[in-house]
Parts: sequence; structure tokens; C-alpha cells
Amino acid sequence: MKFGYFDDQNREYVITRPDTPLPWINYLGCQEYFGIISNTAGGYSFYRDARLRRLTRYRYNNAPWDCGGRYIYLRDNESGSFWSPSWQPTRHAAEDYSCRHGMGYTTIGSKFAGIEAYTRYFVPLDENLEIWQLTVSNRRATPARISVFASVEFCLWDAQDDATNFQRNYNIGEVEVNEGVLYHKTEYRERRNHFAFFACSEPTAGFDTARDAFLGPYRGWDNPAAVASGQLSNSIAHGWAPIGAHQVNLVLAAGETRQIIFVLGYQENPVDRKFDPPDSQTINKKTAEPVIAKYLGAKEADAAFGRLHEHWDRLLGIFQVDTPDLHTNRMVNIWNAYQCMATFNMSRSASSFESGIGRGLGFRDSNQDLLGFVHMVPARARERILDLASTQLDTGGAYHQYQPLTKRGNNDIGSGFNDDPHWLILGVAAYLKETGDWSILNELVPYDNKPGTEEPLYAHMGRSFGYTLERLGPHGLPLIGRADWNDCLNLNCFSDTPGNSFQTTTNRDGMVAESVFIAGLFVRASRELAAIACHQGHPDDAKRFLAAAEKMEQTVKEHGWDGEWFLRAYDSFGEKIGSKERDEGKIFIESNGFCVLAGIGLDDGRAAKALASVRERLATKHGLVVHQPAYTRYYLHLGEISSYPPGYKENAGVFCHVNPWVMIAETRLGHGDEAHDYYLRINPSAREEISEVHRCEPYVYAQMIAGKDAPTFGEAKNSWLTGTAAWNYYAITQWILGVRPTYGGLEIAPVIPAGWQGFTATRIFRGVKYKIAIERAGPGNNVALTVNGSPIEGNIVRPPTDGSNEISISAVLS
Ligand code: BGC
Ligand code: NOJ
Repeated sequence: MKFGYFDDQNREYVITRPDTPLPWINYLGCQEYFGIISNTAGGYSFYRDARLRRLTRYRYNNAPWDCGGRYIYLRDNESGSFWSPSWQPTRHAAEDYSCRHGMGYTTIGSKFAGIEAYTRYFVPLDENLEIWQLTVSNRRATPARISVFASVEFCLWDAQDDATNFQRNYNIGEVEVNEGVLYHKTEYRERRNHFAFFACSEPTAGFDTARDAFLGPYRGWDNPAAVASGQLSNSIAHGWAPIGAHQVNLVLAAGETRQIIFVLGYQENPVDRKFDPPDSQTINKKTAEPVIAKYLGAKEADAAFGRLHEHWDRLLGIFQVDTPDLHTNRMVNIWNAYQCMATFNMSRSASSFESGIGRGLGFRDSNQDLLGFVHMVPARARERILDLASTQLDTGGAYHQYQPLTKRGNNDIGSGFNDDPHWLILGVAAYLKETGDWSILNELVPYDNKPGTEEPLYAHMGRSFGYTLERLGPHGLPLIGRADWNDCLNLNCFSDTPGNSFQTTTNRDGMVAESVFIAGLFVRASRELAAIACHQGHPDDAKRFLAAAEKMEQTVKEHGWDGEWFLRAYDSFGEKIGSKERDEGKIFIESNGFCVLAGIGLDDGRAAKALASVRERLATKHGLVVHQPAYTRYYLHLGEISSYPPGYKENAGVFCHVNPWVMIAETRLGHGDEAHDYYLRINPSAREEISEVHRCEPYVYAQMIAGKDAPTFGEAKNSWLTGTAAWNYYAITQWILGVRPTYGGLEIAPVIPAGWQGFTATRIFRGVKYKIAIERAGPGNNVALTVNGSPIEGNIVRPPTDGSNEISISAVLS
């Protein structure tokens, strides 16, 4: 069952009924000002940091869901009835409801009692504000007297404190109202130099800034007393809960359409010019007034929307494909790339599943995210890499997370996730392959942000490498530490206290438990590093990296192989995990996917065997599960993984993040059908028809789909902010379609389904447009390349030396 459809032409997903299985969201903003917006106008806004600079309030866990948003109400002043065109919060049965989630904007509306109203919400580029463009039309044969109300509930900035510290917060709320603009200025009298504003393009017939006045006692956003009465009371908030609400009265002739613009924004003032007059307590509004005035004009708003559209044209235009498969095209060309930008902007901070007050930026997560966005925003990828590397420790280890506002490592969670350092190598490698900007390796970067410790980025990567070699366990495999990629496989934790953090409790010495997954990662990263060392003219380093990779590969074959698949780990007692010897958790996806992806066992049949075992034991119609059999009870020595009921999350859920490792592994064996089959099982667009089962948005990936052991098999959770976005993008574009940046040029190495006759693509790579046509002449994956009409050796197309900025490539597969 579907709740809408894809409008690929306009790059939109159109939701046609408001009661989606879960709120289906979109993101507004792509620089410093951001918002989440659901298909019924729920959500909130923030400036840079979803915890510390929250503009508007939102309550997760609420009932009904998704309450709190950018709510507009219309009131028919003849009948006295009122409704919200976005369905929530009043939930009137309206006609022609639609929500169009597009690239950086959302338009929601419906028709009720002959009055049509649609609002387009977006954040203009380079501004710290959002525009709500409301278009109201009278479709009746008679004139209509309508009042429009627009409302937001302000958050007192620190979202964590806002939700907990009521003894203080009920006293500090402050607002100002000036020339029809509502200003939220809580704590501006003391240490804050920022405020929010909410403005309207039309002369208003009233406002409210006190929530109690607007809603009335014991009433909710679904039935505000002031809207019901038809008149706002010009209330001024003193403490309690400041809001912003505007009222505009309209008389619409039959057939008449009007546009009203509301602007919600954030403004920072220079400390020495906070107040105007200087010795007063009144906000200096001179900084905000021009920008408010600018965007209240319909022309400016439309122009800003046009610029936003061009921005996305440019980003998405970097890679476009036309394949025989609609779901591949749609995800690659539009939504998967878009989701990769969301993970870049948000990391794991703000979604329907991330409260914005929890985690900082993950070291592992952010490095992997690079794989999905580096081609779209290389300059920002560079900056991100240097920020990440600055939080690396001089041991080569890394803080598991850092805080985006301070860019400092997060002490609460600390370090000791022994896979972390290697993701930096893979992230940098991806950047170098995309950009050819080798200068980044010479950037001086500190350890733990400590001045005086700076070394070139290249040396940081050497320390990442060394970190593992200094931490090998009894079998010569890498010690796992607190956890590896699987945050929940906590082999040194042994927690028996409710509420203990599995991620930070460590009560074993950590000298026994080893990870075969990290071994695979190490092999892959060390070979990447060797290639980088060669290019940099450090052959001795390269030799060292390659020798260590080779040795680790042998160790994996000797101690990390279970006969039919790769083991997952050794626990704190030296017992195998992910082995036929176990009753539960016999086989895991991570070590099998990553070892083969890293090339281990391609030469001796182990890789093929491992993938056959994965197919036989882990593949389900909803994707590949993490392991089998699921853990049916809590095991003290395994940690969080066994805390989840069977089939959920790391306990045998379908982790969409790691499915692509197997897809890539399949391509390494030349299996295009298998790779693309796995790709489609979790591709959100391909799952659109089962939206009632999948439940999350059909246009973006979710982190997890409940596995076959779960009562809700096939149900997705944790959509949007997940490494799934980058890895799926990377797997389909670079390994299945095989359009792959390398240090020396663009490699064309498709491993596509046997039934595909070919495909075409355009790729902008280092400033040059590559027009690629792939044609199948035989069933295999051998590539014969012609570049600008002339056949070339091999399958790497070197950048043009004649200054041209367009290249035509045709590739024949046989
Ligand atoms: C989740 C993991 C996540 C970890 C760290 C766990 O509860 O299951 O997926 O990586 O928390 O935040
Ligand atoms: C989500 C975390 O963000 C990621 O870092 C981790 O690898 C996966 N969960 C698996 O535990």
C-alpha cells in the first residue's frame, strides 16, 4: 500500500494522505539554519546545533505523534469553523491534501469548505531564516471572510534544559513586539546575543506571544481558544511559554488568490551593539530588520526559491544515470544523494529518531558519510576531514564523537572503539580519489586539538595504522576494545546494572577479545594507505603498510576462518563468535562483507564460500540480517547486542548500513545479479508498495528493517541519519554501476545484472564532464573502453590534458 507517489520530474515525493504510518519528514536548510518538517507541518528549527540553539519546541514521544510545528490555521468567519490546511494539528478531513517533499523545501496544503491553502516552506541559501509562503484561494462562488493564523512555539534555546529545568524556565521567557514583528529574546538580557523573530508580510489583525493566551487553559494545538474565538489578544509573554502567533484577516472574492509570507529567523548581534538604545534592555533590531523586510516580499522569496533550486540542480547534476531500473535511477539521481547531504549536515543529531540533544558527530560515522557526499561538496569534505583528524588522539585512537559547536572530542563517551582510526584513512582516500587534492596530506593537524602537537595529516593516518598493530590479541587479530563497527558487540563490558551505558562501561582488561571485522578493515585501509604513500614518494612506508596488510590477511585465513565463512570475533574468554560452534550468533554479516570487500579470500575460494553462506543464512526478502540465529536472551559477555529482542537492531535486524558491504563484495566476485538483487531488497523506492509494512519514508533509507526473527519483520526504523545513505550510494554508483574515482582518473568497471543491456551516465569529475554509455555485448564484466572515439587500454580514463572539459566514453561489456 502506498501513501503517495514519486514525482521524479520535479524531484519530489508527493504524499497524498496525511495519516502516513509515521510522520514522513524532510529537512529545510543546508548551511547553518536548519529545520525538520513532517508531512503535516510538524517539526522544529535550530541554528547550527540542534541542542544548544533550538528555535522552536518539539516533543518526541508525544501523542498524538508529531505535535508541535509550523502551524497555520484558517477560520471561516461566517461559520466560525477553523481547520489546518496541513491536517495537523486540527485533523479535519480535507480534500486534495498533498505534501510535496522536495530538495530543501516542503509544500503542504489542502482544500476545506471551498478554501484552498498551500504553504511552501524553505530556507533561502546564505540566510538564517525560513520562509513560509502561504497561497490561499477562494474556490467558492461567493466571497469569503477568512482569518489566517500562523503559529510557532519557541524553545528557550538549550533544548535539553528547556525540557527539564522548569523551576527556572517558567520565569525567564521574554519577548518584544515591534511593528508587527514578534521577537523571542529569552536570556538576551544576560549572556545570549541572539534572538529569534517571526514576521508576516501583511498588516496583522492581532498577535499572541503567551501560549496560555493563545491555546487557553487545558487546550492543545488542535483547538486553540484564540483561533476558535476568531481574535488574538495581543498577549505579551512574561515567563512560562513564549510563542509567536499572527492573525491576518482576509476578504477573498470568488476565485481570488492571495499570498501571505511568514518569516521565522535567527539573528546574532555584536555584543557591544546588543541593545538599542545602548543603555536599554531593548533588542537592537537594526541588524534583523533589513533581512526581514527583504524576504517578506513575494519577489525576493520566489527568487530565493529559484536559487535553492539551482543549488540542488548543481549538486545532483554531478552524477546522473539512466539505467533500466527505475528505483536505481530515482535513488541515485535524487533521493540517495539528497540523503547523503542530510547525513553530512546533521550527522546523527536531529531526526524522528535522534532528539538533537544526544550524540555529537561520530568519528566513525562522519568519516563514512564522506563516501556519499565528497563529490558534491569537496571543499566542505576537506574541512570535515581536518576537523575529524584534529580530534584524533596521539595514540592514533580517536574520540568516538566530537561536538560540532566546539569541535572538541567528547569526554563523556571517550575513546577505545578500535575500528575508529581506520575510517579516517578510508575517508581521506575517498577525498583524494575524488579531488586529486594531495595538498590535504600536508595540512598540519593537532592531536586532541592541543596546540603544539600538529603533524601533517599523512602522519595522522600512519598513527591510525600503528594503533592496530600496537593492539593485537592472542591470535594476532586486532583487539576490539569497547566495540568495533557494531557498537553493540561489547565484549569487554559485562554489565549487570540497569541503565549502565554499554558504550562506556568497560570492566575487562581488553587484552583478549579480538575482531575479525577490524582485521578486514585494517587490510583494506592499509592497502589504501600504501597507495597514498607510494604517490607521496614514501616507498618504505608503502612496503610496511602492504606487509602488515598481507600478514593480517594470513592471520584472518588462519584464525578468522570458520570453514564456510569468516568468524566475527573472539570474546573475552577467547571463544569464537560467529562460528558453527555456537548455538546462536553462528554467522555475522560484518566480517564476511568487509573481508571480501577488502579482497580477502578472492584468491582461494574463501570469498565465494563466505558469500554463499551469507546468501543461505542471512538473506531475507527484506534484506540481509546482521547475524543468525538471533540471540534469544541476554548474554553478559556480549553486551548490548543481546539486549535487543530478536530481530531488532544489532540483534539480527536488517542493518541497511552493512548490506552494501555484501553488495560490493558480490561485485568483487563479478556477481552483478546478486549485488543488484541485494540492492533492491532494501532500496526504499522499491519498497514503496509495502509502505504499510515498511512504515518509514519510501524516499530515504532507514538504518534498520526488523529482521525475520521479529514479530514486525520488514518494518523500518531510524530513517534518514544513518551510514546506510553513504554506503548504498557508494555501492550502487561505484561498484555496481562501476563509475569509480581513482587516484589516476575515472575508472569504468560496471558489474551490472546480466539482463541489463547497458546504461548511460554523466559524471562531473575534477571539473570535467564525462558522458558515459555502457553497452552489453556479452554476459561478463570485461570492459572495452573508447574515449572520444579512440579505444584505450585498461579501464581508467585519465583526465584530459588538452584543457577540454567534456569527454565521451563508451564501454562495451562482454
Ligand atoms: C544502537 C547503535 C548505536 C549505539 C550508539 C545503540 O543503542 O543500537 O546502533 O550505534 O547505540 O549510539
Ligand atoms: C549506528 C552508529 O551510528 C554507527 O556508528 C554504528 O556503526 C552502527 N549503529 C552499528 O552499531
